[in-house]
Amino acid sequence: MKIGIVGTGNMGRVLGLALAERGHQVFFGARNIEKARQAAQIGTSNTFFGDNQQAAEFGDVIYYNPRDVCPADVLSNPDVLNGKVVVESHNGTVPSDFSFAPVVESRAETLQSQIPEAQVVTAFNTITQEIFEHANRSLDGLNIACFIAGDQPEARETVAQLVASLGFTPVDCGELRQARLIESAADLVRMLLYKQKSPWASFSFTKIPPLQPSRLGGRQASSLTRATTTGSSQ
Ligand SMILES: NC(=O)c1ccc[n+]([C@@H]2O[C@H](COP(=O)([O-])OP(=O)(O)OC[C@H]3O[C@@H](n4cnc5c(N)ncnc54)[C@H](OP(=O)(O)O)[C@@H]3O)[C@@H](O)[C@H]2O)c1
Repeated sequence: MKIGIVGTGNMGRVLGLALAERGHQVFFGARNIEKARQAAQIGTSNTFFGDNQQAAEFGDVIYYNPRDVCPADVLSNPDVLNGKVVVESHNGTVPSDFSFAPVVESRAETLQSQIPEAQVVTAFNTITQEIFEHANRSLDGLNIACFIAGDQPEARETVAQLVASLGFTPVDCGELRQARLIESAADLVRMLLYKQKSPWASFSFTKIPPLQPSRLGGRQASSLTRATTTGSSQ
């Protein structure tokens, strides 16, 4: 697959290099082309570099790294994103006292409103850049969850395949509005990482085999308001 990295920051660099290792063609874009060149040269093959517009034109899938910056301010022709899968991982800054504000509108939704003809998918929010050092190598059995949300199922599936190729476990969360929960999950994991003073941890999402019959009385009718017909209110 052809991947365009718009903004070769930390996440753009590590994601692009890990995907290039998996055989994808990766074009690193930056406003300072020297930064894109340096990233591309870390890769052994399949890497290209240039400006952000060239990266956006190159990729079938785009990783959009600039946070809180509208594509119209980054690209000379943002319409080149129309119809493309645009992946982002944007989280907010970490407040000094960890008093995170509730995520009312996710950054992914804001980006989608800025490029309505693109297919924005959020992913990788809860995975630190350091963990990408392991990608393709030693993640087996760790079951590191990568939560994915986006309004187009095919776009989510495309991203899920990229995620799986890196050794992470894709967890399809459905529509893009679920990016609010994913951003909040990233706040939780970052609070934990800051407190343990290490980036080397992440969430896993593990399916548990059902145990029938129940040993402990089972789930009984609750007097609490139920959120859904099938889910629990707990
Ligand atoms: N780092 C992590 O471990 C991690 C993990 C999960 C999610 N995230 C999230 O991913 C996002 C990016 O994080 P990061 O660590 O990659 O940040 P970063 O290293 O600071 O990269 C930011 C990128 O945005 C570009 N950029 C910023 N303002 C721009 C502008 N006005 N025009 C064009 N480009 C601009 C920067 O370009 P220049 O280099 O030219 O300034 C750079 O490529 C954040 O929302 C973060 O919360 C990060």
